[in-house]
Amino acid sequence: MVTVNAEQFDSVLLVGFMASGKSSVGRELSTLLGWKFTDMDAAIEKKTGSPIDILFNEKGENYFRGIESEIALELVPLKGTVLATGGGWALSNQNWRAVPEDTLTVWLKVTPEVAFKRALNEGLSRPLFDQNKSVEEFALLLKGRRHWYGRARHSVDSEQGDPQEIAESIVKCID
Ligand code: S3P
Repeated sequence: MVTVNAEQFDSVLLVGFMASGKSSVGRELSTLLGWKFTDMDAAIEKKTGSPIDILFNEKGENYFRGIESEIALELVPLKGTVLATGGGWALSNQNWRAVPEDTLTVWLKVTPEVAFKRALNEGLSRPLFDQNKSVEEFALLLKGRRHWYGRARHSVDSEQGDPQEIAESIVKCID
């Protein structure tokens, strides 16, 4: 049984590589905390009326990043919310500057091997997975991103346990 004492933090922001479990862990965590769960990619799709891969591939990555930052500005300050970011949101100083002090930021750590296997099994349409379809390319991409994800206040190993267990380990950071 986990005791939840979320007084110090008003919201949780999850960052990490593709297929690190941000959405599945985020959902479990929101249940544990009794907070709302928001998935940034889903919010972008709802707001624009376009799937991520269409925005990304037809309009270009820069266009997608602009929309992502704009929509994130509305979502990041929300209280009582667990927000799962898209894997590229953390790669911007400007995006990080919008994170309130009382938000618990958590990096879900995953190895390129596991992320690759999960992305393959999940079968979701991920533009950067389509462009980096080998473990080696995933490893290179992750290497260039680690320092950005490392700006999160906490990190958890996202390969140890199922989403509920990982969510429980995040709750321990809050206690
Ligand atoms: C991206 C990750 C995706 C999505 C977009 C770009 C990235 O989200 O935002 O395809 O740059 O890593 P997930 O991390 O949920 O796959």
